Amino acid sequence: MDNKELVKLAFEAKEKSYSPYSHFQVGAALLAKNGQVYQGCNIESASYTPTNCAERTAFFKAVSEGVTAFEAIAVVGGKRGEKAELCYPCGVCRQVMAEFCDSDFRIIMGAEDGSIHETSLEEILPHRFGPADLA
Ligand code: THU
Repeated sequence: MDNKELVKLAFEAKEKSYSPYSHFQVGAALLAKNGQVYQGCNIESASYTPTNCAERTAFFKAVSEGVTAFEAIAVVGGKRGEKAELCYPCGVCRQVMAEFCDSDFRIIMGAEDGSIHETSLEEILPHRFGPADLA
């Protein structure tokens, strides 16, 4: 699965975004080491706090099905009705990535104009606290 294909699946997931409060629609496609892809969208709540980001929806779907080894995630997002520009994972989602992923886990952002930026967990969350600290 190449980056372009994964970004396409993230755009597909964005269509399912439940975001009646922010109107900011996010989609993610998480590639597991077994080749399976888990799609996720952001899910908001009238009481705001329970809101779940697209990335975490994808992670929690996979982990709840017993899959915990991951290769890459594609993330896309933007305001409803506007062209999606590159949208980077929030801090909470980065911490969830740190729970399950190695430094070289790939994070791929896609925009509607076709541009793609790939980075790594090491790059977007250096000096992180993680499972190794509690081992
Ligand atoms: N959001 C995500 O789904 N992922 C991110 O990494 C950033 C923010 C969602 C949460 C909320 O539904 C909306 O975008 C606005 O913050």
